Amino acid sequence: MKTLSFLAPFDLNGLPLKNRIVMAPMGRSRADDTLHTVNHLHRTYYTQRAGAGLIITEGALVSEEANGGLGLPGIYNRQQIESWRKITDGVHEKGGKIFIQLWHTGRLSHPRFLKGNLPKGPSVLPFQAAVYTEKGFENVPTGEEFTLDEIARVINSFRSAGRKAMLAGFDGVEIQGGNGYLVHQFLNYYSNQRNDQYGGSIQNRSRFLLEIIENLAQVMPVQRIGVRLNPSQHNILGMDLDAQTIPTHEYVVKSLNDFDLAYLHLVSPYTDVTDHHFGVSNVVQHFRPLYKGNLITNGGYNRAKTEEVLRTQEADLVSFGKLFISNPDLVQRLANDWSLNPLQEATIYGGNAAGYTDYPFYEAARVAPV
Ligand SMILES: Cc1cc2nc3c(=O)[nH]c(=O)nc-3n(C[C@H](O)[C@H](O)[C@H](O)COP(=O)(O)O)c2cc1C
Repeated sequence: MKTLSFLAPFDLNGLPLKNRIVMAPMGRSRADDTLHTVNHLHRTYYTQRAGAGLIITEGALVSEEANGGLGLPGIYNRQQIESWRKITDGVHEKGGKIFIQLWHTGRLSHPRFLKGNLPKGPSVLPFQAAVYTEKGFENVPTGEEFTLDEIARVINSFRSAGRKAMLAGFDGVEIQGGNGYLVHQFLNYYSNQRNDQYGGSIQNRSRFLLEIIENLAQVMPVQRIGVRLNPSQHNILGMDLDAQTIPTHEYVVKSLNDFDLAYLHLVSPYTDVTDHHFGVSNVVQHFRPLYKGNLITNGGYNRAKTEEVLRTQEADLVSFGKLFISNPDLVQRLANDWSLNPLQEATIYGGNAAGYTDYPFYEAARVAPV
């Protein structure tokens, strides 16, 4: 049998991974809505998926003010650390590795999640987006602009969350730098028109992310920090491409070479940008030459595409989202070319074990009585 590239072990800057398949970060809205802790269901869910070379958890809030949705976990207090500890132990017992995604929703939030306060972002600019609340989808109100003191406080909350992630037993952290959330809001012109050191030039708009990395690196090994970017995100989650978007991401990616990071995680655009003047469809092809470190690619991969992108060395690792929701044993299924469980849309967000921890493993499904 031909050796499959994705089954080869990988040295993630000193962290040995058993294969090159990564579970992409995915929020499932099942954390305690008041305490923002995770529970025994999360432990089962992540432990079931420990066959991945690396798991990246759902986005975890770096502070109370980072909140922007229902059932989101946090990583900013002792109770949350203790709740995550059970997950990291479970994954490690199965020989897996696990990073936590550090998240601040910024302007993409709602007063319902912020004790009645308005969401805050880099600038006050009108934009169209809705967030899911207990009343269904609600439009995001125009928020407020962060002061310089508040920016310093937010950067510090990332640093503090990094320290807590280490205490919770995570192998590392991933900074959520895409999907229209706070870091992305600083990078993008349509969400950041500040005229201080955090806005205006490409360098200034990149400063927020780079300062977060510098601060995190003071409390944890830089080799255990990953960054996720979604450079061509367009017409979704309040983000739009403009003339500066790709040049800004090029600057950021080149600047990441100054740090000895775990990886850069690039997300393929969620909408079709092939005809967009300012868009780049194949982000991994575009950015690979600019980045010297480990690259994870994400978005719409299957077995054949994974083999291809690893064989051509455009990426070092491939992350899977939706397929990991419905296939806890995804790596084994891909390795053996077994059939895949379909995704049940209705149970993606919220609820309990149904559609979360009850997707069958391949062997179990085969021997189950009909
Ligand atoms: C239910 C769900 C929740 C997600 N939550 C996050 C998240 O918390 N952080 C993040 O960076 N991306 C999140 N994503 C995006 C995925 O990580 C990934 O980019 C996307 O699903 C495309 O990969 P795929 O084609 O393999 O599913 C989420 C996606 C889904 C389907």
